[in-house]
Amino acid sequence: MTAEIISGTAISKQIRDELKQEVIQLKEKHNIIPGLATVLVGEDPASQSYVGSKARTCNELGIYSERHDLPADTDEQTLLALIDRLNKDTKINGILVQLPLPGHINENNVLIAIDPRKDVDGFHPINVGKLMIGEPDYLPCTPHGIQELLIRSGIETEGADVVVVGRSNIVGKPVANILMQKRDGANATVTVCHTRTRDLISHTRRADILIVAAGGKPKAITADMIKKGAVVIDVGVHRIGKTKEGKNILCGDVDFESIKEKAKAITPVPGGVGPMTIVMLMTNTVKSARLAAGLL
Ligand code: GUN
Repeated sequence: MTAEIISGTAISKQIRDELKQEVIQLKEKHNIIPGLATVLVGEDPASQSYVGSKARTCNELGIYSERHDLPADTDEQTLLALIDRLNKDTKINGILVQLPLPGHINENNVLIAIDPRKDVDGFHPINVGKLMIGEPDYLPCTPHGIQELLIRSGIETEGADVVVVGRSNIVGKPVANILMQKRDGANATVTVCHTRTRDLISHTRRADILIVAAGGKPKAITADMIKKGAVVIDVGVHRIGKTKEGKNILCGDVDFESIKEKAKAITPVPGGVGPMTIVMLMTNTVKSARLAAGLL
């Protein structure tokens, strides 16, 4: 058996096409153009590339975007002052501060400063709390993208044993929270594993759906660690070399080649979860514009 490849590239394109129509309608019927501001501190190449793709996708969808790229030594006060300005700017519906921030800046101070109504990452404690009680305005982008991949691939989550490897605030904790909610596209029995989990393999082998966002070693999850017929979602991105043309060679947290012979379905890296994150950010930005205009 060779696994079905769950294409985030194809599914994200479907959602982008839907959003493009929605943006056209918003402009025609209500004269609204959603706007996203990205804030990047420092010159981390991966972060620069993510922020660049976000701006390009905005452009493609007819969403207004502005980039604020600040030097690595920017102090916290300067960053907070920028966020305050963006909070008040009516052209801007979404504010995304690219993480991680340099060590001298307190990440929580920054996330709390973003107006929760413009928090299209869903990282503000108010939005984290709303998700926890099952009343979310904005779901965090990568976890929401994973849920959409499962729904649009026809993978049943209700009653499924979902095992999440990794407990980050960006992926592990929120994806567990989303999939345990009492609602369609969720209703799973969720286990979260992490660096202090005893006997990881005993958990991963039980998973109907295994979501790996561990971020440690490339290809750390191998075929012997999964159940035959499992669905495997790989959130990891590792740069493991360069092609002759100088392009990055990427792989995930999962050993794709061996696992695809045993799993029922698997996401590739690249082209799996990655493209979904960006499109869910666009979904949240359009939702924020609707909320701001009283249309929801
Ligand atoms: N860094 C890695 N993933 C993310 C994300 O989803 N949002 C932000 N703001 N930073 C990130």
